[in-house]
Amino acid sequence: MKVKVCLIGKGTVGTSFLQLVKNKRDDFKRKFNLEIIVSSIFEHDGALIAENGINIGEVLEAGKYFRNLPYWKEKVRAKDLISTMDANICIETTPTNSETGEPGLSHIIEALNNKIDVISSNKGPFYLEYEKIKNLAKKNNCFVKYEATVASCVPSLGIKEQLIGNEILSIRAILNGTNNFILSRMAAEGVDFAIALKEAQELGFAESDPTLDIEGFDAAGKIVILANDLLGWSKSIDDVKIEGISQIIPHAIDLAKSDGYVIKHLAIAENNELVVEPRLIERYSPLNISGTLNVVELETKYAGSIILMGRGAGGLEAASALINDLLSILKNRGFSE
Ligand code: HSE
Repeated sequence: MKVKVCLIGKGTVGTSFLQLVKNKRDDFKRKFNLEIIVSSIFEHDGALIAENGINIGEVLEAGKYFRNLPYWKEKVRAKDLISTMDANICIETTPTNSETGEPGLSHIIEALNNKIDVISSNKGPFYLEYEKIKNLAKKNNCFVKYEATVASCVPSLGIKEQLIGNEILSIRAILNGTNNFILSRMAAEGVDFAIALKEAQELGFAESDPTLDIEGFDAAGKIVILANDLLGWSKSIDDVKIEGISQIIPHAIDLAKSDGYVIKHLAIAENNELVVEPRLIERYSPLNISGTLNVVELETKYAGSIILMGRGAGGLEAASALINDLLSILKNRGFSE
């Protein structure tokens, strides 16, 4: 079986996706008799287009000079060309815009309008227009998957399927690696807030506009997606009470420590309310994770607390979630091993 993919965005996640498709080519062929053909790769200023399949090795080798390849087309836009791409699946990996969701939102809508299944690592469209996207996908009989948007490859959305015989009642989570890194550095080594933020930026975890991290908007968007998917709510980011971490002073961290507590930036969905704010948690709580890790604690009706923990950011981590979504869509479309 051949599946044709249109990739939008060739940043860290998009490039890692190409890397994984290349690495797993023989594996997919052997295990599933599956060939993933990437027929277009869109960037903001043009696209690589080869209807019969782009040579991914060549693109990866070209690195940042991929625009010099002969099949680069200047100034074409994904939004205008999605309908002509003859793709089965559109993979959206453009950066998050927390106010408009664009250009990712338009790409997703255009793909669904053309009956193309969508996989996204871009969370903006989902925390701003969750209902609209879901309804459009349903109307057009399309799949839309977005595991990479929350905690990256940690299966925080996929877990729903695994708990189908149970019921998820509430969620408490740490969903922003940058903030958790900053708070961990401040607590463990007494590092200054500004220096810890700079370190997080150097690690490549922070958003291009880090106020989205430290003022809590990134975590707020993610808890909206989790609550809508796992608890069946219909919320948007405007429904979240948000407080960031920029006001936390070292003295507060020291005081908490002397009482056996740590300050963590929690995202909570319970009692029909969404809250993102710094909270005190016990030092030995399973939510006391360090560094850039993410954690999601689900309170369930029949099995108490269930906890997922792992790396919530990173190119290959997110790309592996995109690949999972891709295989899941193919399975749902009747493709069998
Ligand atoms: N800025 C985000 C974080 C990246 O720090 O968790 C992953 O969504």
